[in-house]
Amino acid sequence: QTFGVQRCPTHLLIVMPITIRPIKRTMMPNKNATACNGCPLYDRPMVWSDGPRDAEVMFIGRNPGDVEIRTGRPFTGPAGIRLDKVIGDVGLDRSRVYVTNVVKCHTEENKNPPQDAYRRCITRLKAETLRMKPKLVVVLGRDAEKYVIASQFKFQKVLPIVHPSAALRMPIFEARLRMQTQALGAILDRMSLHVPIISNPLKRARKINVLFSPVEGGNP
Ligand code: URA
Repeated sequence: QTFGVQRCPTHLLIVMPITIRPIKRTMMPNKNATACNGCPLYDRPMVWSDGPRDAEVMFIGRNPGDVEIRTGRPFTGPAGIRLDKVIGDVGLDRSRVYVTNVVKCHTEENKNPPQDAYRRCITRLKAETLRMKPKLVVVLGRDAEKYVIASQFKFQKVLPIVHPSAALRMPIFEARLRMQTQALGAILDRMSLHVPIISNPLKRARKINVLFSPVEGGNP
């Protein structure tokens, strides 16, 4: 047990005893694992997921970029800085959420990974989500969204939002991401981690609870 600073309802800072649980982080799998056999990205650098195994909120992007293969952690480049802002703005702590990608390997010139890489890697992601059972999955950008929704993961409530790199590229997407960040904050508040289904217009998404952002037309 240790002591930490907490806010009390009158906004005075008080010092209270708090218990700090040790964080169990995930282990990088061996690339010789069966899912990598024959994958077109087999020889590319891999960046594994980051975060505690008991995280309740999971963020899923597409695949690691140039900075990520140097740091060995997902979302540590410019898109990562923008993602950290989303996480901070909704009152979450990055060290307490799980951040990962659908495809764990880097692609030359950061191209969209080939379909076969998605198909193989999604089995890993599925295993991660089955093990962790996060209460909310936030999917970043269209490419990740397409595969996560098509694979019909159970247990999760899924909120697809704009990819942080798209927000950095275009002010219109930045504005959309800000709106979605507010929606995410409201969802987290309402949830005390129990989220009602807002809408579910995709037939193939019936088995999972897809929380659509309030904007029509999909996310970049
Ligand atoms: N973009 C992603 O989708 N994932 C990363 O890890 C970095 C950038």
